[in-house]
Amino acid sequence: MNFHVLTLFPEMVLNGVNTSITGRAIRNNKISIEAVNIRDYSNNKHNKVDDYTYGGGAGMLMQAEPVYQAYKSVADKIPENHTKRVIYVTPQGEQFTQKKAAKLSKYDDLVFLCGHYEGIDERVLEEVVTDYISIGDYVLTGGELATMVMIDAVSRLVPGVLHNEVSAETESFHKNLLEYPQYSRPEVWHDKKVPDIILSGNEKEVEKWRLNQSIKRTKERRYDLYEKYKQYEMCLDKLKEDKLNHSDMISLIDTGRAEIVLKAEGEYLLKDIQTNIYFYCSLNDKYTILQLVFDCVSKTANLQEKTLNKIKNIRKELEKIVVHGSKAKKKLEEILSNSNIKNLTYTMEEFEQYVYTQNIRLSIKGMKHPRISGNVVENAQDQLAKIQLKKYGLDICSDIEIFDGENFAKMTITAIINSQKDEKLLPIIWNKSANNAIIKETIKNANGYKSKENIIVFSLSLA
Ligand SMILES: C[S@@+](CC[C@H](N)C(=O)[O-])C[C@H]1O[C@@H](n2cnc3c(N)ncnc32)[C@H](O)[C@@H]1O
Repeated sequence: MNFHVLTLFPEMVLNGVNTSITGRAIRNNKISIEAVNIRDYSNNKHNKVDDYTYGGGAGMLMQAEPVYQAYKSVADKIPENHTKRVIYVTPQGEQFTQKKAAKLSKYDDLVFLCGHYEGIDERVLEEVVTDYISIGDYVLTGGELATMVMIDAVSRLVPGVLHNEVSAETESFHKNLLEYPQYSRPEVWHDKKVPDIILSGNEKEVEKWRLNQSIKRTKERRYDLYEKYKQYEMCLDKLKEDKLNHSDMISLIDTGRAEIVLKAEGEYLLKDIQTNIYFYCSLNDKYTILQLVFDCVSKTANLQEKTLNKIKNIRKELEKIVVHGSKAKKKLEEILSNSNIKNLTYTMEEFEQYVYTQNIRLSIKGMKHPRISGNVVENAQDQLAKIQLKKYGLDICSDIEIFDGENFAKMTITAIINSQKDEKLLPIIWNKSANNAIIKETIKNANGYKSKENIIVFSLSLA
């Protein structure tokens, strides 16, 4: 991830970002930062970059040309195949959130434009800016602090920046919950004792306590977030009515990657905020949402303006969609094929899931296979594998590689043997594109394992 900051105070940004965790990430080449002084692109001998505002009004305005030239100096260096955003930090932008940070962390290059004085000439903003983002409803003297806030929040989501990757997943805002209270040594401080349950060593109970505390705290301090959390829980409950079919959507929510875009009775349209791929399910085989999104405007005529705008935005953005709930397949295909969205890809194929025991191979049919994107498939598989492993009380060993079929099988089996949880049903999950013979052979060779008959292997088929 490369950050480029266009500013009148480069040393302020560099000093701020070059310390602590972000500083370490720069030294380890996980992120890079350059700060370009807009004043260097002034076209007058006094290095002036501001002037009076046409039409009167208090204060000075940053002029278009120096900002444009500073931008060009950066933009011309960014390779064409890099993904990038150009962000004007401004109190007039959309509010910066953890979700926005997660989205931004997926780009190769982020260019931040910091205003000063009364702001920047509108014309250059129109020409170069892709996103207007604010850090809150208050006015700062300049954009540098806002930029540093965003760089900090985005950096820690870049792989390798935080050493303990899990922490970003359990912190505040993950799944719309604030983090639970935490304690460190000593056990008693100012007569306050660390809650017994935390010291009990019972991991399950600790996890339950933490979740309850998170819910309680969110309800008390951020009712708006709590309401969102409830919405996602309701969605999860619905999806779990047909768990097998919706494992990909469930895992998107569980990992905090889902945005509920639209909902109707028995229907949900989610967006994977990392890939922008949409996921749709209909538990009652009505396709109200799809019709709204793909059909003509007349059907949406009596909708509120807010909803209409939302639908228009979805249409603009929607390129790929995974569709569940295809009992009325013909109708569904008709709706999707009527869509005049260019490049729309969708999938609703069924695929078989196999469960192997030592002697038998059971086939479970009906799971829909999100086939459209390597990215999604990998993530869905990854998350699903983790969920399954967790369900059976197995730790997710960091040395398990989930997607390289052969390696995964071998390493999982080894991990299972090492874990020696004899009485349990132990799942092995692998991508069916892996060579079945190799996997079977690995199981056969796992002779040291006492309860071999208890091994269950889930094979998630990939076309
Ligand atoms: C004094 S402010 C200008 C405010 C501008 N006249 C307005 O009313 O929108 C100077 C610069 O600080 C930055 N800034 C101020 N408040 C901000 C906020 N809440 N979030 C992000 N940037 C902010 C912007 O880059 C802005 O151009």
